[in-house]
Amino acid sequence: MTQQHPKKIWLTGASSGIGHALAQELLKQGHRLALTARKAAPLTLLAQAYPNQVLVVTADLTVFEQVHAVAQRIEQEWGGLDMAILNAGTCEYIDAAHFEAAMLERVMRTNFIATAYCIEAALPLLRQGSKPQLVATSSSATYFPLPRAGAYGASKAAMDYLLASLRLDLMREDIAVTTIHPGFVDTPLTRRNDFAMPMRWSSERAAQYIAKRIHKRPFEINFPRIFVGFLKLLACLPLRLQTAIGSRMNP
Ligand SMILES: NC(=O)c1ccc[n+]([C@@H]2O[C@H](COP(=O)([O-])OP(=O)(O)OC[C@H]3O[C@@H](n4cnc5c(N)ncnc54)[C@H](OP(=O)(O)O)[C@@H]3O)[C@@H](O)[C@H]2O)c1
Repeated sequence: MTQQHPKKIWLTGASSGIGHALAQELLKQGHRLALTARKAAPLTLLAQAYPNQVLVVTADLTVFEQVHAVAQRIEQEWGGLDMAILNAGTCEYIDAAHFEAAMLERVMRTNFIATAYCIEAALPLLRQGSKPQLVATSSSATYFPLPRAGAYGASKAAMDYLLASLRLDLMREDIAVTTIHPGFVDTPLTRRNDFAMPMRWSSERAAQYIAKRIHKRPFEINFPRIFVGFLKLLACLPLRLQTAIGSRMNP
């Protein structure tokens, strides 16, 4: 499918999982993509499959200088951005018996601080773009506290608040802010999980769902709807009941 007005999009976390599948969907739609991850090979393959549409900009996004080098390269090549999709992320689970603050620091650094670096780098470029849009991948885990997910959930909850607040700040510049809340998606990240993952989608299905909606500049993209609705419903229960249900989810 080709598009009449191809957008200039920066997509992070494009080497695997949701980001890699989303890159393919957006490339099929005819957009130009600057793709970031630490691993170059999957990005280079996409560049070969879609000649003239892809800019490979590898970086470790937890390193401020590398993020700004990516932005400089995008500015040199394209002059600005119409959309930044900040999707890179990681997950580690808490072992309460051996609580380790350094682990929280690692997860916060990748999921939250690196996203903040990307926002700082992307905003000046978005101001040069057309119908600019800032997008970030949070998680449906923010709707209901899950066992062992304290580090991951906290990093995504921090992201949710930042984006919701920035939405208000950026409105006057007409920079739209979209937060994505996926349920379980089959990716290298979740293949490490040792618990049941109800209603898990394939990364292709998740990418198609996102790609179909993202250009309407919605506040949120949440899926699967029934799963998200169920979590939101649980979060309305009295705390005692929420705790009883949540503790039973511990594997
Ligand atoms: N899968 C799910 O069920 C699910 C549910 C809710 C939310 N999410 C969120 O969706 C996003 C994508 O996750 P996924 O499931 O697709 O996982 P994934 O397959 O592990 O992909 C993670 C991506 O992030 C990149 N990345 C990680 N750390 C990075 C760093 N320091 N610098 C640059 N890139 C980095 C990885 O690339 P390199 O390793 O090559 O750097 C990879 O491309 C994450 O934000 C995740 O929290 C996933």
